[in-house]
Amino acid sequence: MHILVTGGAGYIGSHVVKQLIEKTSHRISIIDNLSTGHQSTIDTLNSIYQNERYDEEGITFYHEDLKNFEAIETIFTTASFDGVIHFAASIVVPESVENPLKYYMNNTVNTTHLVSLCTTHNIKHFIFSSTAAVYGEPPEPQVKETTPTIPINPYGRSKLMSEQVLQDASQAKEDFSHVILRYFNVAGADTLNRIGQSFPNATHLIKVAAQTVIGTRESMMIFGEDYNTPDGTCIRDYIHVDDLASAHVKALEYLEQGSDSNIFNVGYGHGFSVKEVIGTMKTISHVDFDVRAAPRRAGDPAVLISDNSKIKNILHWSAQYDDLSGICATALAWEKTL
Ligand code: UFG
Repeated sequence: MHILVTGGAGYIGSHVVKQLIEKTSHRISIIDNLSTGHQSTIDTLNSIYQNERYDEEGITFYHEDLKNFEAIETIFTTASFDGVIHFAASIVVPESVENPLKYYMNNTVNTTHLVSLCTTHNIKHFIFSSTAAVYGEPPEPQVKETTPTIPINPYGRSKLMSEQVLQDASQAKEDFSHVILRYFNVAGADTLNRIGQSFPNATHLIKVAAQTVIGTRESMMIFGEDYNTPDGTCIRDYIHVDDLASAHVKALEYLEQGSDSNIFNVGYGHGFSVKEVIGTMKTISHVDFDVRAAPRRAGDPAVLISDNSKIKNILHWSAQYDDLSGICATALAWEKTL
């Protein structure tokens, strides 16, 4: 098959491309505007491709923005794709509150256009990067795919609307099937330290802690110590990026087998508090970095943990890197390369 990966130069997209190279024989094309991704990531993926497949052809890279509808349509007209894995999106929750239209344009509008091109060009399969943010403040700490989706910020709403567009499009076109993957807290990097999270203004806890270890930041903050949790800090389900990536490979196999469209949570099904994550980062780095208390951050639920039984049962997905120390160690090793 020929698979198009949008956002393939970014953090999660690049780990999925790496696994598509290593675990499948699919031809791969990438569209990325390089706003948070890097040309060097494309170069690294191409060298993995050439080593792995003994093939000079490599990945086809289109340096393009999904908002340029005509240019994207030209790509679809000239290339022939069988499946699309769609990552390209804006992902910073506080920014989505300040600039919601950026999120509705980059996420919902661009996804709608992409899905529309897929249906007119008879693309068979679509895998969509969604988020646990669609659940908002869930009524139970461990969420199932059937837990009501009531997002509490524009980021979550922009993703939920995209899910709905995709579901309606698949409903209307029999041979267009999709998998929606709702990611929990993705962290860590390639265990061989070839690719990782390079976005400089990252806000995610493990990335921020790694930056504080190496001194990119002088100190870091804990946003809220008065939550109704054992140590008062928020609990999240941290998943290694390569385990998340393998879920995409499984989802593609599932669609290739002719299975019905479906939604899956991707997480480990257990969580750690902010203080536990920071403690782990201090232990593995042997650096007692400066941590300060700060007020709660808007829109943070106290506990967000996946129920991952559906993805285990239906996609036969299993985790290989379910170890917080390992996640922190790979994140730190990558941070040191930047
Ligand atoms: N946190 C701190 N200090 C920091 C950064 C984060 O205390 O410097 C805390 C946050 O307040 C939160 C926890 O660490 O309690 C995790 O925060 P992240 O920013 O790392 O991640 P979020 O849980 O806010 O969000 C991420 C993704 C969403 C996804 C969600 C699912 O950005 O897309 O995980 O759980 F929906």
